[in-house]
Amino acid sequence: MPFSDYRTALVTGASTGIGAVVVERLAARGLQVHAVARDAERLAELAEATGCQAHALDLTQTGALTDLVAGLEIDVLVNNAGVSRTGNILTADEFAVDEQIAVNLRAVLHLVRLVMPGMVARDLGHIVNISSIAGVYTFGGNTIYHATKSAVHTLSRQLRVDGFGKRIRVTEICPGRVETEIFGRILGDPEKARRELFDGYESLKPADIAGAIEFAIESPRHVNVGHIEILPTFQVPGGLEFERRVS
Ligand SMILES: NC(=O)c1ccc[n+]([C@@H]2O[C@H](COP(=O)([O-])OP(=O)(O)OC[C@H]3O[C@@H](n4cnc5c(N)ncnc54)[C@H](OP(=O)(O)O)[C@@H]3O)[C@@H](O)[C@H]2O)c1
Repeated sequence: MPFSDYRTALVTGASTGIGAVVVERLAARGLQVHAVARDAERLAELAEATGCQAHALDLTQTGALTDLVAGLEIDVLVNNAGVSRTGNILTADEFAVDEQIAVNLRAVLHLVRLVMPGMVARDLGHIVNISSIAGVYTFGGNTIYHATKSAVHTLSRQLRVDGFGKRIRVTEICPGRVETEIFGRILGDPEKARRELFDGYESLKPADIAGAIEFAIESPRHVNVGHIEILPTFQVPGGLEFERRVS
C-alpha cells in the first residue's frame, strides 16, 4: 500500500472544491497535509476538521511559495489550484492572461522546481497535476485556460523524463465538468452558474476526482498511473466545425 510510503502532502487550491476533498482524503489516510489557498477562514475550518496544516497565501507570489516549502519534505504534491476567465484570445484582457498563467502554470512550475529535488534526493515522491480536458481538446471560449492546461499536460509527461531512474511517480488528472465554485467565479454569479451548468446535469463531484487520485497513489509502488481522463458519462468532448463558403 504506497500510502504507507508517504508521510507528507501539499495540496494547492485546498479551500474549496476538489482540493478540499483531496485534503480530507489524504489526511484520513494518515498523511500530514499542508493545505494552501488564499482564504484563511476556510482553511482554518478545514484544519479543524481534518488536522491539516493551513497555509493562507497567494500562489502568484513566488517568494511566498519559496518560504512555504523551505524546510519541508513533501512526499505527495497535488497541484490542484486553478482559475479560469471568460474570453478567447480576441476578447481576453491583460489580467485574464496574467492571472491564469500565474496560477495555473507558473505556480505549478515553481512548486515542482522547489519540491522535486527533495523527492529525487529521498528517492521517493508522487506529483499529481490537475489539468483539464481543456488541455487536450479544443472547444469554444477560454483560450488562455486551454493553453495553460495544455502546458500542465505536457509538463506532467516531461516530469517523468526528469525523474527517470528515481521512485518518483507523476499523475495527470484530466477532468471534465466538476460541480465546484469555479464556474461561479468565472461568471461572477454562483446562482447563474448553478442554473446554467449544474441544474439537470449529472456533473462529476469533487469526490470523484479525489477517488481517482487515491487510486493513483495507492497503486503498487512499481506502477505509475500517468494520465486519468475522467468525465461525466453524459459529457463528450470534441466535435468538428467546417464553415461553408461559396464564392
Ligand atoms: N470544476 C471543473 O469543472 C474542472 C474541470 C477540469 C479541471 N478543473 C481544475 O480543477 C482544479 C480545481 O478546481 P475547482 O473546480 O475545485 O475550482 P474552485 O472550486 O474554484 O477552487 C479553486 C481553488 O484554487 C484556489 N486558488 C485560486 N487562485 C489562487 C491563488 N492565486 N492562490 C492560491 N490559491 C488559489 C482557490 O482558493 P482561494 O480562492 O481561497 O485562494 C480554490 O481553493 C483547477 O486546476 C481547475 O482548473 C476543474
